Amino acid sequence: DIFYQVNGINELEVEISEKLKIKKVIVGSVGLHDAHVSLNEIGYEAAKYLSTLINSKSIIGLTGGSSIEKVITGYKAEWTQFDHNDIMVVPARGGLGNKNEYQANTLAEILSNKLGAKYQMLYTQDNLSKATIEELKNEPNIKRILEYIDKLDVLLFGIGRADVMATRRVLDADEIEGILEKGAVAESFGYYFNKDGEIVHEISTIGIDLDKFKALKDVIAVAGGIDKAESIIAISKLNPNLVLVTDEQTAKKINELL
Ligand code: F6P
Repeated sequence: DIFYQVNGINELEVEISEKLKIKKVIVGSVGLHDAHVSLNEIGYEAAKYLSTLINSKSIIGLTGGSSIEKVITGYKAEWTQFDHNDIMVVPARGGLGNKNEYQANTLAEILSNKLGAKYQMLYTQDNLSKATIEELKNEPNIKRILEYIDKLDVLLFGIGRADVMATRRVLDADEIEGILEKGAVAESFGYYFNKDGEIVHEISTIGIDLDKFKALKDVIAVAGGIDKAESIIAISKLNPNLVLVTDEQTAKKINELL
């Protein structure tokens, strides 16, 4: 029955958080096996958790992708109402080279509307030269966003498989092969990581960098699907404050692998 299942889920959450050595694991979708339904469910669970972290002065960063889109859709405006609202929502990183997916800019705007907050957009391309990046950092608009990113209170981000993301971003076959040959298994906020959580490739754009990410206290990863299990394990090595929101099948797969 439900009670038994919920208890089982709690044990699973504790067991995996210990194995992954991260702050917390939230497993959504009790007993559901439909991948689409379960993504809605983990989005909702992540949204509820996010709401507990937000205060009237929070600076919230997020990435794009379908998992984060579900969090933003699941978020209920009534969870967080403030008289004086100084909340700011910003995309965590500039262009990552995929026009055909939910963009962080769009999601930041939608979330900020639900929160009654302000938001900033970051319009930059991927594959910028070092010189261009340095120049852009001094543009007043971009400088302002980077200052917010530097002061992030909460980061909400997606995790992708390296091969899936490299293909989704339509990189050259050579480049994809190169990234995978270096052992890339995961991609988050523009970085490709190997199974030990080491960067093997980086998209040259502006926004949050790995050092900043590692120092964050409130950082929520949202990722489901058993094919992402290995990627989730790799990303969990980056910051012990991580809170992972995933589905039951993926949680069980991670448990098996560790
Ligand atoms: O491109 C943004 C991004 O957050 C990537 O960093 C991540 O790998 C991917 O989206 C996850 O997308 P999805 O949730 O659709 O699998």
